[in-house]
Amino acid sequence: MSSPTPYGTCADLRAVAAVCHARGKPAIVDEAWGAQLPFDDGLPTWAMADHAADVCVTSVRKMGSGLEQGSVFHLRGDLVRAEVLKSREDLLGTTSPSVQIYAALDGRRRQMVEPLPC
Ligand SMILES: Cc1ncc(COP(=O)(O)O)c(C=O)c1O
Repeated sequence: MSSPTPYGTCADLRAVAAVCHARGKPAIVDEAWGAQLPFDDGLPTWAMADHAADVCVTSVRKMGSGLEQGSVFHLRGDLVRAEVLKSREDLLGTTSPSVQIYAALDGRRRQMVEPLPC
């Protein structure tokens, strides 16, 4: 499922994930537009909160300060095996990852978790 939409509409991820999990299926969320969600309690919860999703993919370049191609995925639980996810990532990923992209991702993470200097 994809949530939020580019317009900010969010799905009830916990309810959708509960339906998936009741059938033994993983809940996989395209959260491309939700990089800001984990960092603001006033926003809807992000896909990995409250054990909702098993995998979520976030495009940090959209709602954060990442560079193009700066996307990350998160994995929890054992409905999606880490080695399977890694093998899929290897299929699509480059063998020469960009240090600039990784640095921008880390800079974004730091920007969001550290208090602003006074
Ligand atoms: C809903 C959705 N998912 C995934 C993507 C892909 O994001 P990225 O190219 O940053 O990996 C986009 C980009 O437009 C998107 O709108």
